[in-house]
Amino acid sequence: MERILVVDDEQGVRESLLAILRDEGFVAEAVATGEECLAQLKTQSYDAVLLDIWLPRMDGLEVLQSLGTESGGPVVVIISGHGSIETAVHATKLGAFDFVEKPLSLEKILLVVRNALKQHKLETQNLRLRREMVGQVRLIGQSLPLRRLREEIDAAAPSDGRVLIRGENGTGKELVARAIHAGSRRSEESFVEINCAAIPEELIESEMFGHVRGAFTGAVEGKQGKFELANGGTLFLDEVADMSDRTQAKLLRVLEEGTFEPVGGSTTTQVDVRVLAATNQDLEERIRGGRFREDLFFRLNVIPLVVPPLRERLGDVPLLVEHFLQEIRGRHGRGPGSLAPDAMEALQAYAWPGNVRELRNLVERIVIMVQKEVVERSDLPGSMRGADPGEDPFSPGRTLRDGREIFERQFILRRLAEHGHNITRTAEALGLERSHLHRKIKALGLD
Ligand SMILES: Nc1ncnc2c1ncn2[C@@H]1O[C@H](COP(=O)(O)OP(=O)(O)OP(=O)(O)O)[C@@H](O)[C@H]1O
Ligand SMILES: [Mg+2]
Repeated sequence: MERILVVDDEQGVRESLLAILRDEGFVAEAVATGEECLAQLKTQSYDAVLLDIWLPRMDGLEVLQSLGTESGGPVVVIISGHGSIETAVHATKLGAFDFVEKPLSLEKILLVVRNALKQHKLETQNLRLRREMVGQVRLIGQSLPLRRLREEIDAAAPSDGRVLIRGENGTGKELVARAIHAGSRRSEESFVEINCAAIPEELIESEMFGHVRGAFTGAVEGKQGKFELANGGTLFLDEVADMSDRTQAKLLRVLEEGTFEPVGGSTTTQVDVRVLAATNQDLEERIRGGRFREDLFFRLNVIPLVVPPLRERLGDVPLLVEHFLQEIRGRHGRGPGSLAPDAMEALQAYAWPGNVRELRNLVERIVIMVQKEVVERSDLPGSMRGADPGEDPFSPGRTLRDGREIFERQFILRRLAEHGHNITRTAEALGLERSHLHRKIKALGLD
């Protein structure tokens, strides 16, 4: 079913648009401000947005600008006030698909929405085809943070600039590095990876720069380093925070001059390598503690990229689940085809401390363990089941008070998950005082 978000500050307009759209069988939701619209797009995915141009504080044009121009996002239809055609035209230049004028006519709205959705479908199909041609390096997700990240990757990739990729464990840093390589003019050359944390200190230097025969005990033969192997292509320094002073100094020199000597050797080698680096450590903290060179940091951090944790883009969970289900099921030749809605809901309310890798592992486990076509909520590990949705606020016999309590509980749990169970940030997002949220959590029995 196609999903539409209505953004208008007039309650009357919101209500009538919701009624019309729902009558036509669309899933429609509404918010009153530009800020709410952006927040909503972070966690939910929509096919179309009906966006009022005149909004308090952040207006429609600003919203449009923050949405960016990458295709694959929702298609935007502008609702313009009478006599603001010029602004509406400007909006279409910023990427809006079309506009309708107030007062709104039912036929006109539906016509424009249908056209917009058709366009959206074509665009996403195209995009998918193009991505499939590019190969396996696909970052799945349509949430705002992920689309932003893709835009940044697209901008950084062809530039040949060094990129420092930061993010928590399992967020997709390596995938981002591969995507940058795939989008660069070096894509036909090699992509070489070196995991600085997985190699013992004393061997990193030789791994990176190679060694000559007899350079150290056990070096019976000379060996090429990764810098040489990556010549012409890309070298990905994973877990870059973990390196000895000596290796840091040597790395700094390659970055500055493009030259180095293999361990135990005296001939200088010149290479043309684009360096990408990744870390989940707080490098600034390491610099302050004297464990990481600041000059090296600046050399690596020419283009900073941050991969957002999954809990800040829970809207991507369904797409990721579907993607991994297809992939892993294909490999095993059996396994469930989909998740029941309440199971998916529970996963969208989970905090994912292990990020996308944790989600992938979960799907792998499901494919192996669950022998049904549709995965139910009770098939999920206990920690992921979340609030009991058996608690339906609409069940017969509920009082308004019961219903409100159930809704509040589910709403607060979901927001807590989205903010990594951080009380201060959740309270801010909910528009509550911290102490008030604490009391609510107690009262609702959530702790
Ligand atoms: N947006 C995404 N779309 C599809 N797959 C993803 C996405 N993000 C991550 N993955 C998958 O999740 C797993 C973990 O990703 P990756 O290894 O790139 O994370 P990482 O940040 O490098 O993790 P670590 O910090 O542990 O090194 C991989 O299997 C990767 O293919
Ligand atoms: Mg990694």
